[in-house]
Amino acid sequence: MSPFNRSLRQDFPSLQKMVHGKPYVFLDSAASSLKPTSMVQAMSDFMLGPYANIHRGVYHDSLKSTELFENAREELLSFFGGNSQEDVLIFTRNATDAVNVTAFSIFEPYVKEGDTILLTVMEHHANLVPWQVLAKRKKAKLAYVSLTDDHQLDLQEFEKACKTHKPAVAAFSFISNVLGTINPVQSMAKMAHQQGSKVLVDAAQAGMHESVQFNLVDSDVTVMTAHKMLGPTGIGCLIAKRNLLEKAEPYQFGGDMIAKVDYESSTWNTLPNKFEAGTPPIAEVVGWAAACAYLEELGWPAIHEHEHLLLSAAYERLKQMKGVTLYGPKDPNNRSSVISFNIKGVHAHDVGTILDQEGVAVRVGHHCAQILMKTLKVPATVRMSVGVYTTIEDIDAFESALKKVYEVFRL
Ligand SMILES: Cc1ncc(COP(=O)(O)O)c(C=O)c1O
Repeated sequence: MSPFNRSLRQDFPSLQKMVHGKPYVFLDSAASSLKPTSMVQAMSDFMLGPYANIHRGVYHDSLKSTELFENAREELLSFFGGNSQEDVLIFTRNATDAVNVTAFSIFEPYVKEGDTILLTVMEHHANLVPWQVLAKRKKAKLAYVSLTDDHQLDLQEFEKACKTHKPAVAAFSFISNVLGTINPVQSMAKMAHQQGSKVLVDAAQAGMHESVQFNLVDSDVTVMTAHKMLGPTGIGCLIAKRNLLEKAEPYQFGGDMIAKVDYESSTWNTLPNKFEAGTPPIAEVVGWAAACAYLEELGWPAIHEHEHLLLSAAYERLKQMKGVTLYGPKDPNNRSSVISFNIKGVHAHDVGTILDQEGVAVRVGHHCAQILMKTLKVPATVRMSVGVYTTIEDIDAFESALKKVYEVFRL
C-alpha cells in the first residue's frame, strides 16, 4: 500500500476533472508535473502582497521582495545539497537554458580544437544539441556512450571512453526521460574527473523522484528545472562550484549583472548576479521553493516507496500484455519515474489517441531523444510516468484503457 493518503490528491485541483466524460488520469508527469495548491498560493501571495522588483529598490516592498527571492535561493541550494560557501545557484529559464549557459560560457574556454565532448545515447536534446553546436564552433569531436542489453548505461564503455578520449567535457543525465534508467552519476563524474574533464549532470528528470545532492554527485555543474518537480514553468537553475563561475565570462549582458558601466566598457557584478541579467522570474523562484518544501514534507523514502509500488504494478501488467515491448532496465531498483513501451502493430500515436479518449494522458513520440530512438530502432514510444499524486486506481484505469487499444486494433 502507498504511504500516501488519497487526500493528497486534494492538493492538486487539476486532477479533479472529467476528460471525454471519464475521470482524468494523468500519466505524463515526466513532461511536466501537476501543481499543488500550496505552490500556486505562495506565488499568488507574493504577487498580490509585497510584490516589487528586486535588488535595486530602497523601499519596503522591494527590500521584502529581495529578501524573499534570496531566501528562496538559499532554500533551493540547500534542498539540492549545495554549500553556500563553495557553491552557487544561478537561476535560468529552465534546464535547457542552464545547459546552454554551461556550454557557451562556463565550459566553453576548456574546449579546444580536436578535443572530445563525451555524451550518452540517452540524452534529451537539451543536453545534446548545445554540445553539438559548441563542438562545431570549436572544431571539437563528439563521442557517445551506448547502452547495455538491459538499457542501462554501459559503464565499462563510459570508463573506456574517458580513458581513450580524455574528454574536455562529459555531460550526462541523472535519469533518462525515456528509459527511466538511473545513472550512477557519482561514479561517472569521478571517472571523467580522473581524466581532467569538466562534468555536467542533467538532473531535470530527477527533481520529483530522486534526491539530487550536488555535493554527492560531485559534478562541476548540475542543472535542474522547476516545472518537473511541482514548481512553475519559466524557472530552472544550475548549481556550480564558485571558483569555476568566478573564472567564467557572463552569458548575457544588461541590467543587474554589471558593477560599473562606462561609455566604452563595463565591469561585472559578483556572483550570482553576474549570470542573471535583467529582471528574474521572482514569483516563480518563490513558487519553486514552496514546491520543494512540499516534496520535503512528503520525504524521499515515502516518495520512493510510493513510486516503486506504482511503477512495479504498471510494469508487471504491461509485461502480461500481448505484443508489448518494454524499454528500460528490468530491475525496478535501476529505474525511476517512467515506463516506455510499444505495442506490436500499433503506432505509438494511435495508442496515445485511444488512451486520451479513455481520459488517460500519456506522452507519445520521440520524447526529445532522437538519438535514443535510433539506438532502440523505433520511431517513437508510448511513455507513462508517475508522480506523487498518482494512485493505483490510475494504473487500473491505464490498464483498462490499453485493453481498448487491443479491441480497436483487434489484436
Ligand atoms: C532529461 C531531461 N533533460 C532536460 C530536459 C529539458 O527540460 P526543460 O524543457 O525544462 O528545459 C528534459 C525535459 O523533458 C529532460 O527530460
